[in-house]
Amino acid sequence: MEALIALVLAVEPLLAGDARNARDLYKLHCVACHGESGEPTATGKSMGAPLLEDPALIAGRTDDQLLSLLLKGTPSHPAPGTALTLLDAADLVAFLRGGLPSIAALFPDAAAYTAKSYTLQGPALKRAQALVDGDLRPEERTLTVFSVYSGETPPTGPRLVPQDPVQLDELKPASKRGYVVFGWLGGGPLAMALSPDLSVARLLSQNPSVSKAAPAVVGKGGREPARRKAFVSKAAPDDAKALTRLYARAAEAAAIAAREEADRHLFDAPEKK
Ligand code: HEC
Repeated sequence: MEALIALVLAVEPLLAGDARNARDLYKLHCVACHGESGEPTATGKSMGAPLLEDPALIAGRTDDQLLSLLLKGTPSHPAPGTALTLLDAADLVAFLRGGLPSIAALFPDAAAYTAKSYTLQGPALKRAQALVDGDLRPEERTLTVFSVYSGETPPTGPRLVPQDPVQLDELKPASKRGYVVFGWLGGGPLAMALSPDLSVARLLSQNPSVSKAAPAVVGKGGREPARRKAFVSKAAPDDAKALTRLYARAAEAAAIAAREEADRHLFDAPEKK
């Protein structure tokens, strides 16, 4: 996270105070469990603390959820409580989000998005494993898919819509922009955006080597499993392999999300679409 802060300071001097405040608060109240870099310490691990630098975790929470966690705590989470003002907590939330690839960075016109985690099994798992030409580890079989919709973007950025049938029903398939999944590349977080047709729309990573692999990946793939081939890049063969692995899981998980969405709108009157 140090590097991210440096970046914020370099481009956004007005925010420097906030970022510095957040970093001080983080050191004071969070490091004991979450570690300097967001990777849990031994204490944190023993309690089940997650990796905080995980964009899927952070993008999967609303600002309100994170603020409430920090201000009120939960049965499984301590709150610094009165030690934090609302502004402090807001600085910390910005700090947690800062530098991680975000939904808005991948789809600038995103107004709303959903987050849901899927576990691949049966034919979907078989197809994904055929594409990577090997077994997916148990933890690789589960992936959070963010479904992204355009519309009127709230000033605070795209809104995370909860898995509530009434609110989900208001998201119209016609405004669907695509899907986002998160993974890892060269030790840093990576975001992959898919178009509604499940081809790769965009890649985002702090690791500059991703741009070498991008030409072999962006625009490739599709809804038809036959269109999905392992990515091959002479310039970045290992990255291409890692990206194939993420795409194999992403395409199957996003296909399930798309089917669920189609089922939700099965009985919509045509003019409502
Ligand atoms: C005493 C150890 C401890 C401290 C101190 C602590 N955390 Fe945590 N944190 C945990 C554990 C354990 C979890 C996983 C259980 C949970 O989510 O309730 C967690 C989970 C989280 C999550 C994920 C929550 C979610 O919705 O999944 C966030 C975000 C987080 N912590 C941020 C912070 C921040 C920011 C601070 C400092 C203000 C902090 N934590 C201080 C132990 C700690």
